[in-house]
Amino acid sequence: MRHLLVVEDLTPQEIEGVFAISQDLETKYTAGVRDALFPGRVLALVFEKQSLRTRVSFQTAMVHLGGSGLFLGEDTGFASSRESIDDFSRVLSEYVDCIACRSKSHATLKQLAASSSVPVINALSDFSHPCQALADLYTLRRHIGRLEGLTFTFVGDGNNVARSLAIACALLGMRFILAAPRQYQFDESFKKRVASLAPDAFIEQTEDPIAAVQDAVAVYTDVWASMGQEKERETRQTAFQPYQINSKLMAHCPNAIFMHCLPARRGEEVTDEVIDGPQSVVVTQAANRMHVQKGLLAWLLGHR
Ligand code: CP
Ligand code: NVA
Repeated sequence: MRHLLVVEDLTPQEIEGVFAISQDLETKYTAGVRDALFPGRVLALVFEKQSLRTRVSFQTAMVHLGGSGLFLGEDTGFASSRESIDDFSRVLSEYVDCIACRSKSHATLKQLAASSSVPVINALSDFSHPCQALADLYTLRRHIGRLEGLTFTFVGDGNNVARSLAIACALLGMRFILAAPRQYQFDESFKKRVASLAPDAFIEQTEDPIAAVQDAVAVYTDVWASMGQEKERETRQTAFQPYQINSKLMAHCPNAIFMHCLPARRGEEVTDEVIDGPQSVVVTQAANRMHVQKGLLAWLLGHR
């Protein structure tokens, strides 16, 4: 049994395997065919934070595959004083075939997985967002046709989404550049982690967004203050202002696509003209969350 808590829980070959299933299921879905691979199977969605894309794409994916998704919000008492995470996990995994969890803390998610007898998928934690990164590189490859050797530039906070993208790029042979104020760049332990996973990985950090986007095939951003960082919002707005993705910055990379995990704070990290402009693929990205999560569910539940 396997879990997906971070992107590197999959090898590059396994990511390719997930992408191949995703592509097959996407093609069938587009042709109106819904492959009922998992009749009667249930995916539990344990969410401690808000979500539109992740929650709905997982639930619909499971229904399309012939199973069902069961949303479990705060009233189930997850990660509260009601019962231990171990008891919660041991019991829940008696009822369901897979668990997707959006957790405030990555440590909680690890504990949930450690006690679960079914696969656990990270549906976003404070540390990583692997489902997002997988869907994003799937989107990029569908758009460009290849990934290896190309430059992926993230302009913004070196947080959960950026970390997962950096690892996914390292595993699939892309160059990754993060443009951010120094205090919001990746820390040493994360850089060491990437180096140990992919010794040849190219990861660069800079405080110069213009230099960062020059060679990019994709320019990506995320909110400046993530869920749980609301108190830092003002400080971050000031620090990240020079990193806004606007048409002036995108003019330095006219052939790049613009990507965002969404939800976006329009007028902060990205302007309307960019997110609604011809370089933007944000809606395709969101749509691909469902296709790639179908591939992931199928892979984890044994359809390989
Ligand atoms: N991108 C993403 O995970 O969106 P949600 O927070 O709406 O799930
Ligand atoms: N970094 C953001 C991503 C939301 C999908 C957050 O954690 O809130």
